[in-house]
Amino acid sequence: MADERRYILGIETSCDDTAAAVVGRDGRVYSSVIASQDAIHSEHGGVFPDLASRAHIIAIVPAVREALRKADAGHKDLAAIGVTRGPGLIGSLLIGLNAAAGLGMAWKLPVIGVNHLRGHLRSADLEAFRVNYPATVLLVSGGHTLLARATSETDIALLGSTRDDSVGEAYDKVARMLGLGFPGGPAIDRLARDGAASIAFPRPLLDDSLEFSFSGLKSSVARYLDAAGEINRADVAASFVAACLDILTAKCKTALRARPAASLVVVGGVSASPQLRAALADMCAELGVELCLPPLRWSTDNAAMIALAAWDYLRLGKFPKLQPEVRLPITEF
Ligand code: KG4
Ligand code: ZN
Repeated sequence: MADERRYILGIETSCDDTAAAVVGRDGRVYSSVIASQDAIHSEHGGVFPDLASRAHIIAIVPAVREALRKADAGHKDLAAIGVTRGPGLIGSLLIGLNAAAGLGMAWKLPVIGVNHLRGHLRSADLEAFRVNYPATVLLVSGGHTLLARATSETDIALLGSTRDDSVGEAYDKVARMLGLGFPGGPAIDRLARDGAASIAFPRPLLDDSLEFSFSGLKSSVARYLDAAGEINRADVAASFVAACLDILTAKCKTALRARPAASLVVVGGVSASPQLRAALADMCAELGVELCLPPLRWSTDNAAMIALAAWDYLRLGKFPKLQPEVRLPITEF
């Protein structure tokens, strides 16, 4: 019966969280399990790759079991397994890929290697269809900052990306300078609420290009902290956030003006920032573009987005080699 195999099991281990999820072809999420490694990495102020791989080894099988149990699904209900093949940390990717390959062999299921960045894009359609095409996509995560144009779920062209750091990396590094721990994004958001954007940090590449640069902004915060005597940490956080928001909204505006789109889709960990959500809502209202944001739980890394992307791959017959790719552009499957 065609309806029998109604789920894809998604597996995500590209960075520091071990995730598994069970998702239907319409994007319904039957379960989503995330074993966070925040406690392991917080004392290093960033992800420590070796520790990440070891934690994945321990967490992967229990996460898969838990995801199937919560979905009340057995392997006979699965149409395929979708697993992140890149971009990401080589050791982390290998654990997920090997686990998926082993399960696929044991359960006689196709295993689909999924591009993590395409997963982020599809996170916007989890639990409900939200994206209208053509769409301009802003992907802001710990590893990436890019603008893309999508004419369908799977037809994607890159418009511009960062020349150096990602915006999430800048959040994490500034958080570390301010002694806020890891991950830095949410901590910076909270602190920024109590401060005034009174420090004039630079807004690099604020021209008509669609490329980003965040390392100069990060260094300028470091120089300010070195030079200043008494500092108000909340003002530093607020001023840093204001600079990031100016850059991100200006780039989206430039992209939308050059190529009108039905929606602006904002995905990736930094899209959980309430300040960014508010700034983009204002900008979209001004331009008359629909702003499309996934619910907060799908902004940061999860396996449900990987499973939904895997449904696309299955439909299109795309089965990339099950090999880890440290770097993988969004334009590739
Ligand atoms: O998408 P994601 O979970 O993982 C990657 O694919 O990289 O993004 C993680 C990044 C981290 O840099 C984290 O600090 C940032 O997203 N982040 C946030 C927030 N939550 C997570 N940044 C700003 N505000 C947040 N609320
Ligand atoms: Zn991610």
